[in-house]
Amino acid sequence: MQANDYLWITTLNKAIKRNKREAFSRYFQLATTNTHGAAKVRTVVYRGMDEDGQSPLIITDSRSAKVSQLENNRSVELCWYFTVTREQFRITGEATLYTHLSLEHQRRERVWQQLSPPAQAQFFWPAPGADHCEPPASQSPRGTSAAADDSLDRQMPDNFYVISVFPTAIDHLLLSHPQRRVISTRGSGEWQSRIVNP
Ligand SMILES: Cc1cc2nc3c(=O)[nH]c(=O)nc-3n(C[C@H](O)[C@H](O)[C@H](O)COP(=O)(O)O)c2cc1C
Repeated sequence: MQANDYLWITTLNKAIKRNKREAFSRYFQLATTNTHGAAKVRTVVYRGMDEDGQSPLIITDSRSAKVSQLENNRSVELCWYFTVTREQFRITGEATLYTHLSLEHQRRERVWQQLSPPAQAQFFWPAPGADHCEPPASQSPRGTSAAADDSLDRQMPDNFYVISVFPTAIDHLLLSHPQRRVISTRGSGEWQSRIVNP
């Protein structure tokens, strides 16, 4: 059955608003594939929408495994569950990496400026996923004492990347009574939605 009046982005924005009181409603899972075609998934923080108003933004470290996975295969899926309204959005999309080599730096800079000093500090830690070495006693467990000083405002480093996920399909499941599931796909620019069995 067609859902003519349904627009997924309006529904998602309402869910974000209605679940705001739960801090963890800002977290979703990002799935990628590695070079062997194996699925990899991890939790990330929602950092608002890109300029088009519908592509979720994520921040990450250039040295993390997900970056090389995305360079190899841009196809991703986000899975976002909202506990207050009990609904799940699975967002299939194409990821774009905004890096220190991108011509346009404003997007990265804007997101960087919105981060708290502790969130910024993580980008000065040793490489994520590399073997852990105990630092000398004079240094913090996270590397140099300067890298661990959470009160500093820092310049945006080259390893600070922003991922923008351009949605191509949305699977929205609402666990109300009765349950409702709507699948939206992007045709030639236009979104089409149909109601399916949950
Ligand atoms: C609640 C929570 C939020 C997280 N947010 C992010 C994030 O926004 N960006 C990120 O790169 N990693 C984030 N992480 C860490 C990732 O889940 C993951 O461990 C890390 O990025 C390494 O993943 P990778 O090796 O697949 O790249 C978060 C972890 C948790 C538990």
